[in-house]
Amino acid sequence: MTSAFKLSASILSADFTRLGSQIAEAEAAGVDWIHIDVMDGHFVPNLTMGPFIVEACRRATSLPLDVHLMVNEPEKFIRDFANAGASTLSVHIENHPNVYRTLQSIQELGCLPGIVLNPGTAAEAVKACLEQVKFVLVMSVNPGYSGQTFLPEVLPKVKEIRGWLDEVNPQAEIEIDGGINEHTLPKAYAAGARIIVAATSVFRHPQGIAQGVHILRSCVSVLK
Ligand code: DX5
Ligand code: ZN
Repeated sequence: MTSAFKLSASILSADFTRLGSQIAEAEAAGVDWIHIDVMDGHFVPNLTMGPFIVEACRRATSLPLDVHLMVNEPEKFIRDFANAGASTLSVHIENHPNVYRTLQSIQELGCLPGIVLNPGTAAEAVKACLEQVKFVLVMSVNPGYSGQTFLPEVLPKVKEIRGWLDEVNPQAEIEIDGGINEHTLPKAYAAGARIIVAATSVFRHPQGIAQGVHILRSCVSVLK
């Protein structure tokens, strides 16, 4: 069955005492990508995972690994993440003076390049990169933690960037990340997001991962 959107399950809310089986459960439930949030304690207040975890995930699944770099100087680490098995590598525009070079290096390393913008960053900030990316990741929470509340203020930005992409790079997708559940996902979808990141509503769903995935899949109805 073709789905209306790709679901990228963020392991930030997984139980790390049994990461492999949690990923296997998400894969069996039909998620498309595994999202890995890399945080350095500088660009964002939290500290999380490095290439070592990406390498472990690579052994746990054949699904694409969607690696979101929330770190200063990401260009120093992209080769390590690519070697560890990353399928996508997304970098933030906010701390990135030489972003063209980084996006080009990501492509040369065989990964899909993405550019990310925070809720407080204007859409215009990524306009000059749109031809060099495979996706634009619009943050719908301030990055750092899972379990935060979706910020609907970012929806006009999704629409605006989708319009620009249609002009210059129509194959590129918009990914959205933060506060996604069955109530916010339809709004993000309607605005044009087609890669949907979810941590809490997949890995912490009270009825389990499979039910969490099922609910997210069912909340958007599209005639295909
Ligand atoms: C936040 C991370 C997100 C986070 C999403 O900085 O980039 O990927 O894991 O968590 P939820 O889906 O719980 O908002
Ligand atoms: Zn993320």
